[in-house]
Amino acid sequence: MEDNIAQDIIVKEVKDFNLDFVLKIKKLEIENLGEVSGINEWVIPVIIKYGKLIIAIKKAKQQINNGEDLIIGVNELIRDWDNFNCAFIHSFYIKKGFRNKGIGSILLKKSIEILKKDNIKKLELTVDPKNQTAIRLYEKFGFKNYEFIEDLYGKGVNRNLMICEI
Ligand SMILES: CC(C)(COP(=O)(O)OP(=O)(O)OC[C@H]1O[C@@H](n2cnc3c(N)ncnc32)[C@H](O)[C@@H]1OP(=O)(O)O)[C@@H](O)C(=O)NCCC(=O)NCCS
Repeated sequence: MEDNIAQDIIVKEVKDFNLDFVLKIKKLEIENLGEVSGINEWVIPVIIKYGKLIIAIKKAKQQINNGEDLIIGVNELIRDWDNFNCAFIHSFYIKKGFRNKGIGSILLKKSIEILKKDNIKKLELTVDPKNQTAIRLYEKFGFKNYEFIEDLYGKGVNRNLMICEI
């Protein structure tokens, strides 16, 4: 894989979609987050229509991947009902094989630019307290640990709530 991969990455908000696209995201969810925490065809269209789905795409070079662009990063958000200037990152991931190359940082940076245009001023998310890579990434962008929440997503599934003013 090329070293300067960042040059080929496009980050964009998804507005139009079809079942083919939804099933592609579903597959990525399972591969990168697992069956339990990944969302499926019942939720992905809802996030696109009523929340926000931002993706990182690696532009196809001819002969690679049949000339098809490859989705290598996903950021799914919903907006806070009580605070319209606040959004919650439901899921954030980079496709296996593309991690630790700075693509998560590109996706988060560009996502923040998109969200600022929508007048979002505050971002919240939860992260596994043991997920050092994700925590390192979020801290780099100014996220601060706000609260440790025990059993949030199931018995023993503890999360750190992190918050960032953007
Ligand atoms: C978390 C995730 C999105 C990060 O994406 P990425 O493309 O690898 O991120 P980047 O390469 O931009 O940055 C990763 C940072 O973590 C650091 N890092 C990597 N492994 C680390 C570790 N074990 N401990 C601490 N820091 C680590 C890297 O050095 C880099 O920091 P730097 O920019 O200061 O050098 C990606 O690993 C992922 O998809 N993980 C699986 C899903 C997931 O956990 N999502 C988060 C859910 S809240």
